[in-house]
Amino acid sequence: MAAAREISSDKFVFGCHRFGFGPAPGGGAVSTERHVIPLVRTALDQGVRAFDSATLYRATLQLGAALDALGVDPNTIRFQTKCLRYLGLNAGGAKEHQPEALLQGIPRRYQGLTDKWDPSPKGIEQQICRERIEYGGDILYGVALHDPPDMRKQVGLDWSTDIAPGVEWLREAKRTGFVERIGLGIKEPDFVHEFIAKEPATLDYAGLTFCPSILGPLMKIISAAGQHGFEVTLMGINYGQAFTLTEDPLTAPPFLYNYEVANAAERELMSRFFRICGSTPLLHLSAAVAGLLVTHFPKAVTQIVTSTMTPSRLVDTMRLVREAEVPAPVWAELKAAELIPREFPTS
Ligand SMILES: NC(=O)c1ccc[n+]([C@@H]2O[C@H](COP(=O)([O-])OP(=O)(O)OC[C@H]3O[C@@H](n4cnc5c(N)ncnc54)[C@H](OP(=O)(O)O)[C@@H]3O)[C@@H](O)[C@H]2O)c1
Repeated sequence: MAAAREISSDKFVFGCHRFGFGPAPGGGAVSTERHVIPLVRTALDQGVRAFDSATLYRATLQLGAALDALGVDPNTIRFQTKCLRYLGLNAGGAKEHQPEALLQGIPRRYQGLTDKWDPSPKGIEQQICRERIEYGGDILYGVALHDPPDMRKQVGLDWSTDIAPGVEWLREAKRTGFVERIGLGIKEPDFVHEFIAKEPATLDYAGLTFCPSILGPLMKIISAAGQHGFEVTLMGINYGQAFTLTEDPLTAPPFLYNYEVANAAERELMSRFFRICGSTPLLHLSAAVAGLLVTHFPKAVTQIVTSTMTPSRLVDTMRLVREAEVPAPVWAELKAAELIPREFPTS
């Protein structure tokens, strides 16, 4: 592979999701000593300076412990997290919304707790202050509203009580300097447009779970980013596991597509990508697309959040984002099949 794209390491953010959910490589819970410390060390060695977490991830305490063990001042990294979702008692009819596949490696201290919603200003204050205590630095580089479209689906969402007061509280926290940037961490692109219409001049970054199959909606967000002055964060590049498959997605064992187990239509869609890519791994396609986005839209697309539980894979992913090549006939066929928008710049 030729060195094709100049992408500075500060465009990469390490995603901490798996520090809490696991599983560790080979299965089971994640150990701070065996897994988290080597990953944080590798990320720092690669020049990564930003870490993305969430109250829900059960991950920030482990990150803070790793920084401590490595003798790294937490104020020398950028830490961004998310609120709205918190961990509460798994009792009294509480429903666990995370897919079973994601619940295999949760460390013991988080067992018996489940995801719940608290959009109140006091709830948000509690959530993000806990995050700050666990990571150990003074301020939060970013705080994103975590999955409000999921909240709408699961328990309903009333903007005037569930979004507006929390946003006002975050604006105040930003005025005081405790929070540097206000963001979204979401799986549904349309919500970005709804948010900027209802909360004008608020959004600093739109974090969107990402993979090449949502380039169409993403291009609209990039265009809105220029107009409204916010940045775009790619929260992952593989949509969970969808773009890491090395066998036909139509018949592969169950895999995650946008963090839910892929259904028949999603398998069929991924299989179309797989067949057109031929000998080009899907992983290379997703890395190349992410790399092209940050190089062609440098003002808008400012962060690629990536994650793995294997240090060498972090190195591989950063290299692939910079160097992975997709042959011109493959791009052409993906565009002809309308799997990649025609206007997407592929070189
Ligand atoms: N709603 C939200 O706000 C939201 C949603 C999703 C994600 N996020 C953020 O985005 C972060 C990244 O998401 P993600 O972890 O799902 O990232 P991703 O880029 O979509 O995918 C990571 C997957 O790729 C695999 N992988 C990574 N490098 C690989 C390589 N070189 N070869 C083969 N497989 C490889 C990983 O497997 P292994 O781990 O087994 O290596 C893992 O299954 C999260 O940690 C979180 O911080 C936010």
